[in-house]
Amino acid sequence: MRVTTTVRGLLALASAGLLALSLTACGGGSTTGGTSAGTTEGSAAATLTTVGFVAVGPEGDWRKANEQNMQDTFSKDAGFDLKYAPATNLDQKSQIDAFTSFVDSGVDIILLSATEGSGWEDSLKKAQEAEIPVILIDRGIEPDDTSLYVTRIAPNNVNVAKSVAEWAVKDMPKGGNYIVLEGPAGVGVVNERNQGFDSVFSSQSQWKKVGAQTANWKTDEGKSVTETLLKANKNDIQFIFAQNDEMGLGAIQAVQEAGLTPGKDVKIATIDGTKNAVQALADGKLSFVAEYNPLFGETALDAVKKTLAGEKLDSYIEVPSTTFDSPEAAKAALPNRKY
Ligand code: AHR
Repeated sequence: MRVTTTVRGLLALASAGLLALSLTACGGGSTTGGTSAGTTEGSAAATLTTVGFVAVGPEGDWRKANEQNMQDTFSKDAGFDLKYAPATNLDQKSQIDAFTSFVDSGVDIILLSATEGSGWEDSLKKAQEAEIPVILIDRGIEPDDTSLYVTRIAPNNVNVAKSVAEWAVKDMPKGGNYIVLEGPAGVGVVNERNQGFDSVFSSQSQWKKVGAQTANWKTDEGKSVTETLLKANKNDIQFIFAQNDEMGLGAIQAVQEAGLTPGKDVKIATIDGTKNAVQALADGKLSFVAEYNPLFGETALDAVKKTLAGEKLDSYIEVPSTTFDSPEAAKAALPNRKY
């Protein structure tokens, strides 16, 4: 359990509360006096809680959904001034610079989605010295020192990847050759997904890994890496685990261009659950999609409020996610998909 009592945070909440009280008082609005209620808009700008969001920025549909959801949730109407700082070309230094400027400018709290898992100790210690709490969004840090942040909010990468492996073992009992399309080296979720997947597949002797390579979360790289590995294995690949949807959609293209039928000759499973992937599952081109739910802005908002109020939080808050294992399940889900 974690105790996060920050003087700054309590002052931020108190001043917002006092301000709200004073606005009500000066607004009149008594039921007996019959005075017209003052409008808060005209009285004073309410004190907003400032949130520094050190974000990843443009990366794919999952990231777009996650970061838009965060910005929509931490709105001024909700009492927040969210300062969005996307990385420059996924560069960690640009994130560290943004993080540092948030600490120096004295924001009330920082949300961090790290482009790289390692290299955050100095920044996190600087925030700690300034009594600015940090909440990790999606991505973890390596080594995982839970004393350096309040909590991490994310779906469970290990379990999400395990669900892919467990489905494959059940769906293809004969096994065969498989490849893994990984996210970028050094990103924490990639290691967690490998850990979860291998915790099942490493004991399945009927499966043989004939290739594993990063395709950097991208469709074009997912296609080119799959092309290369299909050629290297003379098309003798029965299963592809793509660690995100975009890479899996690229794998579909490569499988088709090799003259093979996705979903029949080669089955492809992905993680994220974005619309394009669920549609590809409905079309029979993907065979399994494990959702990695990006829409947890409300959970983050609750964690921020509790943190600034000095409440204890667990070091990890799990975001629930589901799976889709058939075209029928995908078709049923499509009308309600929000990302
Ligand atoms: O950290 C989450 C991963 O980052 C998603 O699975 C991927 O699509 C995104 O780029």
